[in-house]
Amino acid sequence: METLEFAPGLQLGIKLIDEQHARFFELMNQLIALDAGSDERAVVAGVIGELVTYVTVHFRTEEELMARFDYPEIQAHQLEHARFAGQVEEFHRRFERGDIGLEDEMMAYLVDWFTTHVRREDPKYVPLFKANGV
Ligand SMILES: [Fe+2]
Ligand SMILES: [Fe+2]
Repeated sequence: METLEFAPGLQLGIKLIDEQHARFFELMNQLIALDAGSDERAVVAGVIGELVTYVTVHFRTEEELMARFDYPEIQAHQLEHARFAGQVEEFHRRFERGDIGLEDEMMAYLVDWFTTHVRREDPKYVPLFKANGV
């Protein structure tokens, strides 16, 4: 898989959120760089573990802001987050058990989900967040 770019079209204009979204692509690029090489499964597992933590922290950031500003679509958004977080955790577990490698399929799924979510769902809260000075 080729190195990913955090495309300008994905930026929401909210510094805190854009920085967190950029971090997702950094972590994925670390995985892509390791993919070609290696039997360094422990290193790869460590990065996937960082991805699990990242997802938890990022989703919590968005959900806390949504709750604080009474975002009307919070439930649907949270549900999407929870589903993806579950997938990433399962990916981590299965990789640590040695059931799977760093398959392109899994990598493509993560990138597609995240990119689509940032493009379609996250922009919906932007006016509310901005109106509240975030
Ligand atoms: Fe997000
Ligand atoms: Fe989100």
